[in-house]
Amino acid sequence: MLQYMTTKDAADKWEISQRRVNTLCAENRISDAAMLGNMWIIPINANKPDDARMSRNFDDKSKMHPFVKWAGGKNQHLKILTDNLPEGFGKNIRKYAEPFVGGGALLFEILSKYKLDAVYINDNNKELINAFNIIKFNCKELIKNLDEIENEYLKLYDEERQNYFYIKRVEFNWLELNEYNQIKKAALFIFLNKTCFNGLYRVNKHGKFNVPVGKYKNPLICDSENLFKISKALQNVEINCLDYHDCYKFADDQTLIYFDPPYRPLNKTSSFTSYTENVFSDKNQIELAEFYKKLSEKGVKLLLSNSDPKNFNKEDNFFDNLYYKFNIKRINAVRMINSAADKRGHITELLIKNY
Ligand SMILES: C[S@@+](CC[C@H](N)C(=O)[O-])C[C@H]1O[C@@H](n2cnc3c(N)ncnc32)[C@H](O)[C@@H]1O
Repeated sequence: MLQYMTTKDAADKWEISQRRVNTLCAENRISDAAMLGNMWIIPINANKPDDARMSRNFDDKSKMHPFVKWAGGKNQHLKILTDNLPEGFGKNIRKYAEPFVGGGALLFEILSKYKLDAVYINDNNKELINAFNIIKFNCKELIKNLDEIENEYLKLYDEERQNYFYIKRVEFNWLELNEYNQIKKAALFIFLNKTCFNGLYRVNKHGKFNVPVGKYKNPLICDSENLFKISKALQNVEINCLDYHDCYKFADDQTLIYFDPPYRPLNKTSSFTSYTENVFSDKNQIELAEFYKKLSEKGVKLLLSNSDPKNFNKEDNFFDNLYYKFNIKRINAVRMINSAADKRGHITELLIKNY
């Protein structure tokens, strides 16, 4: 006689969310899964089906992707960034650092593809770094929390979902990040990111997250497969929540550092305020260029992204002057949407290498 398990048991066994198991059953992807009343039951020896969502997006099962959407995220630029890694990366260059890691698009691409000796990441956003740490050390509990939130949220209808979002936003803002609630905070952080407008992280002058609710029909809040892969990959990664200068001690002549600082605004209205309470001013950009020179003298391989001021003002040589000693590439970025025909076209971004 066949023995069965519940979708909850299967979710725990296969390290995916219960919701995902329900979907797999409904899609007939688990043979002999059956409905008992209003719930699915699954043969106890059933194998975990391949995840079609993953294979649609990725050809390699070890691939991960950012667990949050992040302003300035580099998902769209992965091809050009990986084409511009230094020669010998993964061979004689076996250390990697991202001092402005954000959502970590390039980090996860690199962790998927290369076996390195040491990896260092940093960001001065403490909620983001808390989430990285919780994924690294407490992934199972995080998924349990997120799964609960996802189940509660998906049961609700439009307006109720909005109310739920705002209740969770208040909870997130009033919970002080400390050792007792860091898992809860990471779960709320990810939930808010997945359901807020455009996946932005923006805070007001009191440091409170203030992005309004977004309009997603069916957001994937608890992507447990991705979270488990990230957790495994982070086991050998040093995670810090400091100013970017801290990476100096990690870097040597076998290290590649990718700098992706907040972009210099192209015009006054395009300024994004802000990942944390502080803004990255021109003075900060100049300091970063000084730091870049210092690291270059140490023999560290350096790759840096920034906006290209020449999109709006051909005379603006801000970065060309700051990095004149280095290899400055202009790469095509997004197509601008503009009703004025003369303003349409590609905008460029800068990629600055010291190799
Ligand atoms: C453009 S985003 C990085 C995006 C990232 N490459 C991605 O793919 O998602 C810049 C990041 O720098 C962080 N940041 C800003 N000022 C910083 C500082 N002084 N030190 C460290 N991190 C900083 C912000 O919190 C933000 O996450």
